[in-house]
Amino acid sequence: MSDESTQSEVQLSALLEENQVFKPTQETLDRTLTKDYDSLYQRSISDIEAFWEEQAKELEWAKPWDKVLEWKNTPPISAKWFVGAQCNITVNALDRHVKNGLGDKTAIIWEGEEKEGKVEERKFTYKQLLERVNQGAHALTKLGVKKGDVVTIYMALTPELPIAMLSCARIGAIHSVVYGGFSAPALESRMVDSTSKVLICSDIGYRRGKAIDLKQIADEAVAGLDFVEHVVVHRRNNVPLGERDVDYNTAFDAESTEGEALIVDAETPLYRLYTSGTTGKPKGVVHVHGGYAVGISYTHKYCFDFHPDDIYWCAADPGWVTGHSYIVYGPLINGATMLMAEGGIDYPDPGRWWSIIEKYKVNIFYFTPTGIRALMRYGDEFPAKYDLSSLKVIGTVGEPINPEAWLWYHKNIGGGKTPIVDTWWQTETGMFMISTMPSVPTKPGSPGVPLPGIVADVVDREGNPVPAGKGGFLVIKTPWPAMFRTIFGDQDRYDHYWGTIPGWYTAGDVATKDEDGYFRVLGRADDVMNVSGYRIGTSDVESALVSHEAVAESAVIGKPDKIKGESIKAFVILIQGKEPSDELLAELKLHVRTELSPIAVPAEIEFVDSLPKTRSGKIMRRMLKAKELGVDPGDISTIED
Ligand code: WTA
Repeated sequence: MSDESTQSEVQLSALLEENQVFKPTQETLDRTLTKDYDSLYQRSISDIEAFWEEQAKELEWAKPWDKVLEWKNTPPISAKWFVGAQCNITVNALDRHVKNGLGDKTAIIWEGEEKEGKVEERKFTYKQLLERVNQGAHALTKLGVKKGDVVTIYMALTPELPIAMLSCARIGAIHSVVYGGFSAPALESRMVDSTSKVLICSDIGYRRGKAIDLKQIADEAVAGLDFVEHVVVHRRNNVPLGERDVDYNTAFDAESTEGEALIVDAETPLYRLYTSGTTGKPKGVVHVHGGYAVGISYTHKYCFDFHPDDIYWCAADPGWVTGHSYIVYGPLINGATMLMAEGGIDYPDPGRWWSIIEKYKVNIFYFTPTGIRALMRYGDEFPAKYDLSSLKVIGTVGEPINPEAWLWYHKNIGGGKTPIVDTWWQTETGMFMISTMPSVPTKPGSPGVPLPGIVADVVDREGNPVPAGKGGFLVIKTPWPAMFRTIFGDQDRYDHYWGTIPGWYTAGDVATKDEDGYFRVLGRADDVMNVSGYRIGTSDVESALVSHEAVAESAVIGKPDKIKGESIKAFVILIQGKEPSDELLAELKLHVRTELSPIAVPAEIEFVDSLPKTRSGKIMRRMLKAKELGVDPGDISTIED
């Protein structure tokens, strides 16, 4: 990390005029699947159901729908897409391609981290993937897993992870993937919420040359859970197996590679993914087999201009929604060859990511602003060493991208011509909602315009549109096929999304919209932080802190951070008799790490005697934040509810 990179950032921002517009090149226009966004968009919203029905016809259904949509936007909110249809998402992701002669096409290329100068590489064709998933489906069935059961998955980034997800889906079981960076109590609470009888885990994962012991964390998480019957362990390191443990490979190898997917109703839950909300424990966002498949395959194809021979790389972790929709299901449904790379982005050196693009001639690359900013700090010379000319579309997701990072990405990775798609969406939306398609001009730092079939706006508390450039709530006014169908076990929390501004989906983001209809996300409107693109609830960190014996109360805020987007600051009141000290500070950080996750550890902890509260006793994080940032609390009332 050199001073030059900071200088180059300064130069970049000088180059960047306010609201600069980047037009697609002729090469992009020649290649694009969507030549005329404006007319497509108008057509799509003139009859949203007809538009999505047209997309649904691209997929294979065991039985077609009787009705496209059943939608009720007053509590209890209820959405059903492709009513009466039957399908299984794995038929579209696997069987369909093998049947259509694509069995020998590479589905997954996996690359491990460099160990002792060597890089391990593995590949699966569509046929091999289908066979392994059939084996997995049989193995899970033998372990007693049935349709509707929840299987928790806690794994390293290897092909066994998508295989485990697909094996669940194949038999109508619901997978609940827990990000490998979560600690034992976080994994345990998610398993308890689901009463998940089976856990599939890896023994270890690799990151920056270190082996992370996932099995030990899994053991701790299930130790007190009587309802857990089996832990299926993908062993890379031959760890000893306990009483409840089953070896992943042995169990799969014993089964037939033949099999049929269980055909289910289109509205059957496919997965549950826990995400942070404003208050209380993480909520289990539920997605289904039918409409979800339609929404993610459409957006994957048209936002990335995906062509059948493209090499596609989403450098995210399947533990988050990005991995579900755009590593596993979207690309496989579209028959893509996709890349997975385990380990650190800058290990063994900061050129690793760019070397992978060169080595595999990646055409579509999807990454995060935090990742871009982190690699940008190392300077332009690393990407300059590699031939990145194979890239046709580059994307970003998860948090607002600052214009400087956008421009660096554009210039150094995109060669000044590759279109950037900055995709705005959420765990709840399941699919991209706002993003320029490659043929649409881009503005640095703005995801752009709503996708076909999506009606989005920025409004005030009463639902009136705000003037161009003014902040307001980002809302979605009509339903979409990949929308979440509920919050597991909590209809009220589901209804709440349509309750703030009755009838419309409130995303929880504060945004602006300019004269050209381009959105810009300013931040969250609620107490959710976005640290390196990871969504973390202030309440999650606060609960972890108060679970320490020395802590009486705590309040947590997100502070702007140059690399991570936001960093966490915690204010802590100690119980009587405990004194602040450096040791205690370190202990509290370690405590959050082991209770919740390394990504949730506060960068700063301040010991205080009191916290600002409302008369009803609610902590006013807004006041703390204003004081911390040295601004008038009124100034930030727009970004904090
Ligand atoms: C933020 C991640 C700006 C936003 C897919 C949203 C973004 C939250 C963007 C959802 C983007 C996501 N520009 N902000 N392109 N994409 N966000 O559920 O605040 O982990 O509400 O889904 O991330 O985070 P989640």
